[in-house]
Amino acid sequence: MLLSEDELRAGVARMADEITAHYRDRSLTIVGVLTGSIVLLADLIRRLDMPLRLALVQARSYRGRATTPSNLSLNADMLLDVRDRDVLVVDDIFDTGRTLFELVARLDELQVASLRSAVLLRKQGRQQVARGPDFVGFDIPDEFVVGYGLDYDDMYRNLPYLAVLEAADIEQAGPA
Ligand code: IMP
Ligand code: MG
Repeated sequence: MLLSEDELRAGVARMADEITAHYRDRSLTIVGVLTGSIVLLADLIRRLDMPLRLALVQARSYRGRATTPSNLSLNADMLLDVRDRDVLVVDDIFDTGRTLFELVARLDELQVASLRSAVLLRKQGRQQVARGPDFVGFDIPDEFVVGYGLDYDDMYRNLPYLAVLEAADIEQAGPA
């Protein structure tokens, strides 16, 4: 276990306070990145009490253990909806940063009023892009982590805490 349920709760609360202080009473459009951000989103949005809309996009960037450049599919309704809005992109983890960087670049083309990003986790020493996330829950070591929405081959998302995946766990995960 890397982060307990209590530690996660405290980190999400801290991030919610920072987001609230930044936007105050402005209305916010959150763009959540599927699938890894769903647990964070559910906990985070209940701690934000400004007027808020939620949109979801799918990012497929990760297969098995290797993290490769992302391949984003954006929902067409959302593309119309973000114009002139204050947009906050929410993802589970900032690893190389390519997923978030690409998504921010795509949203930037849609005449948003402002654009920021929030992640639960940022992995140390992995960033490959110029711009980092604006709000971060936790900085973690360069380990492969699962739980609280994060997966290995689509497993372990339901763990209520964050765990480091070890070699023995990979064998138990079963056929991909
Ligand atoms: P990036 O584009 O390299 O920043 O990778 C971001 C995506 O890779 C995340 O949204 C995750 O889906 C996945 N990813 C990166 N590191 C981990 C990890 O340690 N556990 C689970 N998924 C990860
Ligand atoms: Mg993901």
